[in-house]
Amino acid sequence: MISSLRGMNDILAEDYERFTYFITTATEIAKKYGFHFVQTPLLEETALFKRSVGESSDIVGKEMYQFIDKGENDVCLRPEGTAGVVRAFVQKKLDKAGGVHRFYYHGAMFRYERPQKGRLRQFHQFGVESFGVDSVYEDANMIMMASDILSALGIGYRLQLNSLGDQNCMPAYRESLVKFIESCEDEICEDCQRRKLTNPIRVLDCKNEKCQSLYLNAPKLLDNLCAGCQSDFDKLKTILDQNNIKYEIDTNLVRGLDYYSKTAFEFVSDNIGSQSAITGGGRYDRLVEFLDGKATPAVGFAMGIERLLELIVMPESKREGYYLGAMDDEAIDMIVTLAHQKRKDAKVNVEYKSKNLKNHLKGADKVNARFCCVVGENERNDGTIWVKDLENKAETTIKVEDF
Ligand code: HAM
Repeated sequence: MISSLRGMNDILAEDYERFTYFITTATEIAKKYGFHFVQTPLLEETALFKRSVGESSDIVGKEMYQFIDKGENDVCLRPEGTAGVVRAFVQKKLDKAGGVHRFYYHGAMFRYERPQKGRLRQFHQFGVESFGVDSVYEDANMIMMASDILSALGIGYRLQLNSLGDQNCMPAYRESLVKFIESCEDEICEDCQRRKLTNPIRVLDCKNEKCQSLYLNAPKLLDNLCAGCQSDFDKLKTILDQNNIKYEIDTNLVRGLDYYSKTAFEFVSDNIGSQSAITGGGRYDRLVEFLDGKATPAVGFAMGIERLLELIVMPESKREGYYLGAMDDEAIDMIVTLAHQKRKDAKVNVEYKSKNLKNHLKGADKVNARFCCVVGENERNDGTIWVKDLENKAETTIKVEDF
């Protein structure tokens, strides 16, 4: 038997219902916030992710589904959605057009990670990206939108917040951090020694316990912000306070992608095990320029749909539509025609095998139909149909013309 690849799951039946319920709910909320749908290809030039997510990131360094295609192009399956949306934004010249552009998307992402609970090689994200607004109100708006989506789905969370500074304050901070790292270089892990050379702030979220205990004494991002970044960060906290969004400050939250500046945030759940990040995002004011566009401020986030599935509190499912069944073979043609007419405005399930009434009632119950409609010999002769409302249990026989 051929099975799906490791870390790549089928989504069907009950999970699919949760999945579509999530997409519908998140889409409705994104639209309320003025976002429009965007779809970008699953396959992109590898260079796109090298220049955006960053060569020093684990994603680009170790986890890409990368290959040379038949035309000798270096391509890879997208590991995340932001880079593709920025590429589309620049390619469509929306950067030159100016103004504000807000997009939402959902779809499969691919990372060659070690699979475990909550960590897949093919997973799905729902993401939003906003271009053209440099105000920190937009950062707050993003966080409020993510919070609205999670709350609408009945999902509790903790929000972690940090500021990564900008090109005014980051270079000096990076220098002092590198000096600190050098002071304990012999004791830190190999990954951190490599990070020191590529992207030093990534050492701050190293999972190695020894490293973490050493970095307790490292200079803190939040103690080294310039006046602009500090005032934006303070303002962000005030807006969240005013809107009753609780948060924790985590000065070691650096995110695993290189394109962020200023606001960085993650929503985590304490109910799904070690892969607890359910949403991640932040501001990325330099990325449009890095991808050859006109400098444009931007901010966004993405939610990991698989991690959310088991947390979603589904609304009670209501009986819906019609179940049509025949009690003898002669009635089957009639119910197929009735079903075809009825489907113009309702959901209809048809059973093609003739059965007794008890079994049809069971069948209607199984598909959660509101009405069980059955035609037998008597109904055929009279041009009628027997209908039971499975909600209020009322039974009637009605003329086919009135059905
Ligand atoms: P990210 O933090 O890499 O950010 O991913 C966002 C979310 O995707 C995570 O919080 C997690 O729920 C889910 N996720 C990531 N990797 C996996 C995996 N291997 N298996 C299952 N779920 C996973 C980004 O991707 C950024 N593009 C977010 C963003 C948008 N920033 C600005 N705009």
